[in-house]
Amino acid sequence: MSGGKHEEAVEALLQEHRSFAPSAAFAAQANATAAIYDEANADPEAWWAKQASALTWEKPFTKVLEWDAPFAQWFSDGTLNASVNCIDRHVTAGNGDKVAFHWVGEPETDTRTITYNDLLADVSQAANALESLGVSEGDRVAIYMPMIPEAVVAMLACARIGAPHSVIFGGFSAEALSDRILDADAHFVITADGGFRRGEASALKPAVDEALKTCPDVKAVLVVRRTGQEVAWMEGRDLWWHDVVAAQSTIHAPKAFPAEHPLYIMYTSGTTAAPKGIFHTTGGYLTQASTTHRLVFDIKPETDICWTSADIGWVTGHSYIVYGPLCNGVTSVMYEGTPDAGGKDRWWRIIEEYGVTILYTAPTAIRTFMKWGEALPAAHDLSSLRLLGSVGEPINPEAWMWYRKNIGGDRCPVVDTWWQTETGGIMITPLPGVASPKPGAAMTAFPGISVDVVDNDGVSVPNGHGGLLVITAPWPGMLRGIWGDPDRYRETYWSHFDGVYFAGDGAKRDDDGDLWLLGRVDDVMNISGHRLSTAEVEHALVGHHAVAEAAVVGASDDTTGQAIVAFVTLKISGEVTQGDEAALIADLRSHVALTISPIAKPRQIILTPELPKTRSGKIMRRLLRDVAEHRSLGDVTTLTDPTVVKMIDALMANHANDDD
Ligand code: WTA
Repeated sequence: MSGGKHEEAVEALLQEHRSFAPSAAFAAQANATAAIYDEANADPEAWWAKQASALTWEKPFTKVLEWDAPFAQWFSDGTLNASVNCIDRHVTAGNGDKVAFHWVGEPETDTRTITYNDLLADVSQAANALESLGVSEGDRVAIYMPMIPEAVVAMLACARIGAPHSVIFGGFSAEALSDRILDADAHFVITADGGFRRGEASALKPAVDEALKTCPDVKAVLVVRRTGQEVAWMEGRDLWWHDVVAAQSTIHAPKAFPAEHPLYIMYTSGTTAAPKGIFHTTGGYLTQASTTHRLVFDIKPETDICWTSADIGWVTGHSYIVYGPLCNGVTSVMYEGTPDAGGKDRWWRIIEEYGVTILYTAPTAIRTFMKWGEALPAAHDLSSLRLLGSVGEPINPEAWMWYRKNIGGDRCPVVDTWWQTETGGIMITPLPGVASPKPGAAMTAFPGISVDVVDNDGVSVPNGHGGLLVITAPWPGMLRGIWGDPDRYRETYWSHFDGVYFAGDGAKRDDDGDLWLLGRVDDVMNISGHRLSTAEVEHALVGHHAVAEAAVVGASDDTTGQAIVAFVTLKISGEVTQGDEAALIADLRSHVALTISPIAKPRQIILTPELPKTRSGKIMRRLLRDVAEHRSLGDVTTLTDPTVVKMIDALMANHANDDD
């Protein structure tokens, strides 16, 4: 949620001083203690070094942090293998029979149980297969898959042989896929024929075929058969996973890599049209993913069943479905489908059936469940749950309370966790058992993490004030850069204020010093927890033959947090009939879906003869946001023609939502 509405809600809540202290029983057995903060504050680097030592190192590190701002190296003289940390060491410790994943497919009867032994055999075979195809250390591998176990196996196989993976969300278009493959210069792709979505088989392979027309350097495409649908085949390039992988040995001798060896690239939206390849390295990232997972979710590896509902194509899936939970040797549930596949109570049935203890999801999902009503969760036994997490966007207090009451039975602590693709792991969160969280607040920096809220001059604001969120010291899981573009890295994150990382989010520190996240302050939108830039959507719109100019804003939306509203001027002059207009708007929406992804489809497109501009020719997005959120218009005196925005306001008022 952005702007005024969210801030007003926060203000109203601050008046209430409501917080939820942990129960004595929870606090007594909690992993986190108040002393952890003291220890971490006294010497953050030593504290992180202690956490890193819990990983399995081939060669232990002696150096902790080398900081040549804005470039950090953590544990740089140590060597380790990420997949050994996620799998082999648990098998060696005698836990091979433990379940790593209860995988739940979208079709009801489609389930698989994968133990750590199974995972070791599968990952070893896949690693051998990749090597047999010529993938070697440092080569980038693109992964474009549905939520199936092979996606995890593919990631870990890449990690095992030191080939950075770049997982691209299966909802992205062929064009978006090809941009990312080219930017990462990936020569190998792992995909599937398709996946299941709302009861239907949807295709993935055609998007890969289309994307690869512009990626001549891709040598091999490994294809998992998931749905059995017909696929086009390019001999010499395309290979079935079940042919190539199943033929390999289940033993693969892993090699250790330096801590700073790149583990993965994850593309995310910045403020320009081109996505940024955020890259993470091995030792520091694994340290933060596993430590945050253990403390924020109070993990008890023997008994917990963790369910992170994110897709593997986003960073939440990387850190809290794959690397964090596997490093900690826990059992996870992994679910392929949408929340309403097989009925709107699907999630509650899964929790009941598998005895899920820890649920980590996004406010958008919670708000959707609120709309569906409390009778659905109430009809199921959710008593196995003992902790609830939220991530991806600001959680409104009503959703927080609903989650705690209706899903958590008023007994489970709720942790609202703030972090980003760039941070690699959780940065701001209450620690369960220690904190008394306030509904809607992310509360405090994680131990060993230093954050501040500053004004436009970079000066720390006092309690009770809002400003910009910055991170003031390097942290182990931090991005090591933007793939192939160190200047953009410096410029994007480190140039606003000297020597500190600017997150792009607004935040408020309340009278007690606790943190409330207020949403993005830049041109990044957050749609159902998915990051998209206004520029990216504008770029897609002006790529349509009929469009002259486009201005896109994120407007607050009760379910999706923000929704995309686009204001478009056309090349064609003269009158457009109402029927033509409706057809054109529909065409523009599908054009955006095809160019980027269905998640980028504008909720509303307003065709207007002109856009409001300042005298220097800049589009006044602030005013368009006021229009889109039905607020009274702010200062219009700097516009060349103030009547333009009034006309757009009138057009907007005449428009119903163009929602699907
Ligand atoms: C937003 C997802 C408020 C924020 C892990 C951030 C949040 C962006 C929260 C990163 C939260 C994430 N409260 N806002 N708990 N968590 N955000 O890279 O604007 O997909 O900058 O990483 O999501 O999104 P990303």
